[in-house]
Amino acid sequence: MDQRKLQELLDDMSLEEKISQMLQLPSDAYAEGNAATGPVQGMGFTRENVEQAGSTLSLIGAEKLKRIQDEYLKTQPHRIPLLFMADIINGYRTVFPIPLAQGCTFEPETAKRAAQIAARESAAAGLHVTFSPMVDLVRDARWGRVMESTGEDAYLNGLFGKAMVEGYQGENIGEKGRIAACVKHFAAYGSPTAGREYNNVELSERTLREDYLPGYQKAIEAGSELVMTSFNTLNRIPSTGNKWLMREILRGEMGFDGVLISDWGAVHELVCHSIAEDDGEAAQLAIEAGVDIEMCTAAYGKHLKRLVEEKRVPVKLIDEAVLRILELKNKLGLFENPYKDADPEEERRLLLCREHRSAARETAAKSFVLLQNREGLLPLQKQGKRLAFIGPYADNRHTNGMWSFFADTDDNVTIREAVCERGYADAVFETGCPVVALGMYLYGLGGGEAGSCDMAEEEIQEAFDAAVRAAKEADTVILCIGEHPNQSGEASSRAEITVPEYQLRLLEAVSGVNPNVVTVLFSGRPLDLRRVCSLSKAVLAVWFPGTETGHAVADVLFGDREPGGRLSMSFPYCTGQVPVFYNEFPTGRPFDRSAADQKCFSRYIDIPNEPLFPFGYGLTYTEFSYGKLRLSAGTLEKDGELLAEVEVRNTGERPGSEVVQLYIRDMAGSVVRPVRELKGFKRVYLEPGEQKTVTFSIRPEMLRFWTIDMQFSAEPGTFWAFAGGDSTAQNGAEFTYAPA
Ligand code: BGC
Repeated sequence: MDQRKLQELLDDMSLEEKISQMLQLPSDAYAEGNAATGPVQGMGFTRENVEQAGSTLSLIGAEKLKRIQDEYLKTQPHRIPLLFMADIINGYRTVFPIPLAQGCTFEPETAKRAAQIAARESAAAGLHVTFSPMVDLVRDARWGRVMESTGEDAYLNGLFGKAMVEGYQGENIGEKGRIAACVKHFAAYGSPTAGREYNNVELSERTLREDYLPGYQKAIEAGSELVMTSFNTLNRIPSTGNKWLMREILRGEMGFDGVLISDWGAVHELVCHSIAEDDGEAAQLAIEAGVDIEMCTAAYGKHLKRLVEEKRVPVKLIDEAVLRILELKNKLGLFENPYKDADPEEERRLLLCREHRSAARETAAKSFVLLQNREGLLPLQKQGKRLAFIGPYADNRHTNGMWSFFADTDDNVTIREAVCERGYADAVFETGCPVVALGMYLYGLGGGEAGSCDMAEEEIQEAFDAAVRAAKEADTVILCIGEHPNQSGEASSRAEITVPEYQLRLLEAVSGVNPNVVTVLFSGRPLDLRRVCSLSKAVLAVWFPGTETGHAVADVLFGDREPGGRLSMSFPYCTGQVPVFYNEFPTGRPFDRSAADQKCFSRYIDIPNEPLFPFGYGLTYTEFSYGKLRLSAGTLEKDGELLAEVEVRNTGERPGSEVVQLYIRDMAGSVVRPVRELKGFKRVYLEPGEQKTVTFSIRPEMLRFWTIDMQFSAEPGTFWAFAGGDSTAQNGAEFTYAPA
C-alpha cells in the first residue's frame, strides 16, 4: 500500500478503531478464541478491546496464528491485520547462548547470524516483531538482566545492537524470513540504583549521552523498526512519560521514526512512580511523550477516547501514533498477506534443523571464556584418563537462560550425552547436589520454569557422597556448577553474586580429594569467583549456552574447538566492588600499587581495586606475544588517519585465535576522560609459530566526547593508544591530535 492509501485508511478510521491499534494484549487474551478471559479482564480490558486490539504479545505457532488472524480480520471494519510480537531473545526453538555470552564472542557477525536464524524460525511460526535487541549498557552484575545485554562497553554494544537488527530485519522486513526488531529499553534501564531490578536511575546528561545512548543509536541507525520504553525513571522522570527523552532525544536528535511501544504495564506504572494520579493521567503523559502502543495495561484503552473528547489530548497525537503502526504493518506486507511467513510446513522443516543447531554449537564455543587454566589442564587429554563429570549441570537440560519461553529444553543436549556420544565409556557422571538449596524456590517469568530443589535431604547426602567417591577415583574432575537460570534475567537481582552455597561445598569436598578440578561454570552474570578459582585448576565460563550446550562444552573441553570468548563484562573481585568496569575515570588520588602502604588513595583497604577478571580477558589453548605498538605518525590531523600496527605471534603449540583490542586514552580533556576506551578489535587466527601484523585505523571521530560545553567533538592534545589481549594492555604509543 502506498503512503497516500495509508493516509486515506487512517482518515477513514473511527477514533475507537484508531485507539484499538494502540493496544497490545498478552497471549492470555486469546486462550479461548477472542474472548476476554479472566486474567485479561482483571487487567481492565473489555471484550471489545480483545477483539480489536492491534497487536498481541507472546502468541506464536503458524497454525494458531493463522487461525487467530482469520478470526480477527472478520471483526475488523477496515481489515487491518493483527500484529504478532514476542520476545525472541537468543533464539526461538534453536536456542543460542544468552546475549551476554554472544557479546563475549567479540564477533557481531556471529550474533547477526544467530538473529537471522531466530528470525527465520520465528517468522515461519507466524511472528512479526521481536523485542530484541536489548542494548542497555550494564556495569552492575547484581542486576539480573545483564544476561540480556552484550555488556559494559558502549562501542561493543552498539556493534552488537546493529548486527542483531540487521540479522532480524535484513534489507526489508517484508521479505520472507525477516521480522522487525525492537530496541530496548529506552533509556538507561541497565543502571538501576544498587543493581536492584526496576529501581531508579540517576545519571548525568553527559554520562547518559556518552555511555548509554550510543548503543540505542547504532541500533536505530541500523533501521530498528521499533523502540521500547524502559521501566525506570531517569533523573526522577519515568521514561514512559518523559517527553524530553522520547520526543527531543529519541525522535528529534536520534532520528527515530518508527513505533514506540511501552514496556509491559509501564504506562500504568506512571501512577506507581507517582507522577500520575490515575491511569487517565498516565495515558495522557504517555501519549504526550509519544508512546504509540501500550503494552498489556489498559490505560489507553480506558481513557484515550475520553481524553480526546475532553480536548486534553489532541487527536493529532493519536493520528501520528496510528499512522506509524499502520506503516509498520504495511512494511511487513500484512495488508497483502496477513499471515506473512506463517507456514506449518516450513516451521517443521526449519525449527532445530541441522544448520541452525550447528550455528548454535559454534556460537556457544565462541562465547565460552577460559578464565583460568593452571598447568594447562585444559584441553582434556583424550586418552587414558579417568574422567568424572560431577555437579548439577553435568547432565542438565535447563541451560537456555531465562528468555527462552518458546523453546523446549527436551531439545537440549546435555554434557553427559555429548561426552557419551564421543565414546567415553569410562567417564562417570554424578549430580552431587541440586542447583539451589532445599526450600529455595525461584519463580520463572511468563511461564518460564520454576526453580526448586526436588531432592530430599537424604538423597542430597547420598548424591554428595557418591560425587566425592567418584572424584577420588578419577584423574580429572569436571565440575559442572553454576547459577539457576531463574537467578538471572528479569526480576532476578541478587545481592550476593556467588555460585549457590550447596555447589560451593561440593567443590570444596571434591577438590579436597582430587586436585585436578576443571570447573565448567554456568551463569547469567559475572560472579564472585574467589572460592571457585582457588579450588579449581581450570575455570571455563559457559554462561547459558542453549540447545547445543553439551556438544559445545565437550568440543571445547576436549580441544576440538578453542574457547573463543573474551569477557564483555568484568568479573568483580567480590560483590562489594560492583559496579566495576574498565573504562572508569581517573581520580585525584589514583592508587599506585607500589605505594601500597599509603592510605589516602582511591582504593579499598580490604580488596584490590581491580576486578578478578577484566573486560576483554579470556585465555586460549595457546599463547600469544605482541611486538611493540607502532603508529604511522606522531600527529593526527583534522580529517586525517593514523595507522596503529602491532605484530602478534602464536608462541604456543596449538593453533588459536587472539582478539586484539585497541584502547585509547585522552590524557587531558575539558572534562575528565576515562582511563581508556575500546576503539577497535580484530580476531586473528594463528598457527603455532605464525605471526601476523594487525592494523587499526585511528581517526579524529574516534576521539570525540561530550565536552565541557556539551559539544560532541574531539579536543586537541595528547593521547595514548594501547593494543593487547584485554583492557589492561600496557603496550602503548603516544600521539598528538592537532586539528589546526
Ligand atoms: C520486559 C521486556 C519484554 C516485555 C514483553 C517486560 O517485562 O521488561 O523486556 O520485552 O516484558 O515480554
